[in-house]
Amino acid sequence: MASVRPERFAPVVADWFLRTLRAHSEFDTGVIDLLDTPLPTDLTDSATATAYRARLAAADAFVVITSEYNHGYPAALKTAFDTAKREWRAKPIGFVSYGGLSGGLRAVEQLRQVVAEIHMVSIRETVSFHQAKKQFDAAGETQDGAAIDAAERLLGQLAWWARTLRAARTTDPYPG
Ligand SMILES: Cc1cc2nc3c(=O)[nH]c(=O)nc-3n(C[C@H](O)[C@H](O)[C@H](O)COP(=O)(O)O)c2cc1C
Repeated sequence: MASVRPERFAPVVADWFLRTLRAHSEFDTGVIDLLDTPLPTDLTDSATATAYRARLAAADAFVVITSEYNHGYPAALKTAFDTAKREWRAKPIGFVSYGGLSGGLRAVEQLRQVVAEIHMVSIRETVSFHQAKKQFDAAGETQDGAAIDAAERLLGQLAWWARTLRAARTTDPYPG
């Protein structure tokens, strides 16, 4: 979860996606909430950063839940990418975005450039909520059919890449 704003909307989107994800038995899912993971912006080492990198190293796949701020993604998310290196490599990453008119899609297109630099595979299918606060009811459910369909496709593609790249990393270590 990328947003660290005190009044953030992020938990509504994240909780919905986690419910969808946990219906897929092939995933064993953990959550890294950057609000609870204060990583130094000067990239100096810390106990939190060391523990964070260990969690990344143990994972085969990632999904970022991100908002859009001024046509970009949250600064805390950039620090999160920059705090690790080999832990990201040859692993897939998907994006669930939300925001105002663009649904966070501009933030996601920027993120594709960043994750390519750190040797990740970005999942083609993106879940996007424009005018996000209007897309969820009081129970945190959505009737946005396009987002529901996209989440299923994203998870199918993520599982395929996670399986495939894990097997490849095991038999033939990534040369990066
Ligand atoms: C500083 C700031 C800049 C924003 N810029 C954009 C933007 O460029 N495009 C957009 O669609 N929404 C924009 N928004 C709306 C946010 O995407 C929306 O408020 C979202 O709920 C923020 O996520 P959060 O509440 O989880 O932090 C902006 C919000 C903030 C606070």
